[in-house]
Amino acid sequence: MNNFNLHTPTRILFGKGAIADLRAQIPAQARVLITYGGGSVKKTGVLAQVYQALEGLDVLEFGGIEPNPAYETLMKAVELVRAEKITFLLAVGGGSVLDGTKFIAAAAHYPEDKDPWNILLTRGNDVTSAIPMGSVLTLPATGSESNSGAVVSRRATGDKQAFMSGFVQPVFAILDPVYTYTLPAVQVANGVVDAFVHTVEQYLTYPVNAKVQDRFAEGLLLTLVEEGPKALAEPENYDVRANVMWAATMALNGLIGAGVPQDWATHMLGHELTAMHGLDHAQTLAIVLPALLNEKRNEKRAKLLQYGERVWNITEGSEEERIDAAINATRHFFEQMGTGTRFSAYGLDGSSIPGLLAKLEEKGLTQLGEHQDITLDVSRRIYEAAR
Ligand code: NZQ
Ligand code: ZN
Repeated sequence: MNNFNLHTPTRILFGKGAIADLRAQIPAQARVLITYGGGSVKKTGVLAQVYQALEGLDVLEFGGIEPNPAYETLMKAVELVRAEKITFLLAVGGGSVLDGTKFIAAAAHYPEDKDPWNILLTRGNDVTSAIPMGSVLTLPATGSESNSGAVVSRRATGDKQAFMSGFVQPVFAILDPVYTYTLPAVQVANGVVDAFVHTVEQYLTYPVNAKVQDRFAEGLLLTLVEEGPKALAEPENYDVRANVMWAATMALNGLIGAGVPQDWATHMLGHELTAMHGLDHAQTLAIVLPALLNEKRNEKRAKLLQYGERVWNITEGSEEERIDAAINATRHFFEQMGTGTRFSAYGLDGSSIPGLLAKLEEKGLTQLGEHQDITLDVSRRIYEAAR
């Protein structure tokens, strides 16, 4: 096992009716800005519950944060935060609202003579302060509710970039599985696929004898495989939704990634597909991951065999056959969730691959993976194989 330094300071308030504890999490003197997305929280009544829970507090709101939150929109919120002297941010929604709010939190404290896009260009390294934030999650997927990462898109330049900073890690997260009953099937599938891929990217590299991390990861994968299809079939099954929600949080709160090698290449290649073609985040991962596992089958051999055996019960056949079967099972699972696993499933023919590679190169993403050996050439082969 590798050395690690783990701090997971987000308070989790989990379960039916957890909103009842919201008020107590926010300082009494706070001037609060509630942030939300395109309006689902109005339709579902979650926003009304939040207002009710915050009665008596000084509260303003900013809506309209879109999926793959746009820098251009978020900067309007930054202006409002500064003008209104907001001291606490409360994000109510999915990963996009949470990520967008993390950016607002950091940008509002960023020196006014500096370009706030630098927060992304420096991947969060020069963030030294942020407005504290909390979250009420309505879509289990990204893990954003209890991690320090955020992904922001800039429509003007077609960029999608991530930053990380401990200053933007939510102080608390309200996780009520009931809030997820209203999700459209495609978003349920997106959440399950995203959480699955987060787990795989911290697990399917090479062995370092990290048994706890491996078995936690395998437990999350097995849970998602069991509960994902049930979440589609029985949208109001509380226990199913609770298990999916907790699995998604656990998949990216730092725990399973501590002390093990990681490979975020699927996410990096996927982000370019979203930036160029507007595909949902998880759809891009479902396209890239099977092709990447096949391309890297030799480097990932030991873990692919372990994954095949422990997650998919694949114990028969030669090593090559077992690896093929494990990759096929992964692809089949995504498709069973209704998520296409090739460019062609989304009407794309692969003609944009040179453009996707140019964007990777522009960002210096030319040495990805746990061995830094996913060069542009390898990325090209992965995109080509995923057509
Ligand atoms: O905008 P509203 O109207 O709220 O509707 C949203 C949105 O259209 C809707 N929705 C959310 N909760 C709902 C609901 N509809 C009905 N009932 C509910 N309970 O779902 C749609 C998608 O929401 P979004 O927040 O975009 O989805 P997700 O949570 O999958 O977030 C995706 C974003 O997170 C980033 C992605 O790149 C993408 O930008 N990621 C963030 C990560 C992190 N911070 O650690 C890691 C991830 O790998 C990921 O990159
Ligand atoms: Zn993701």
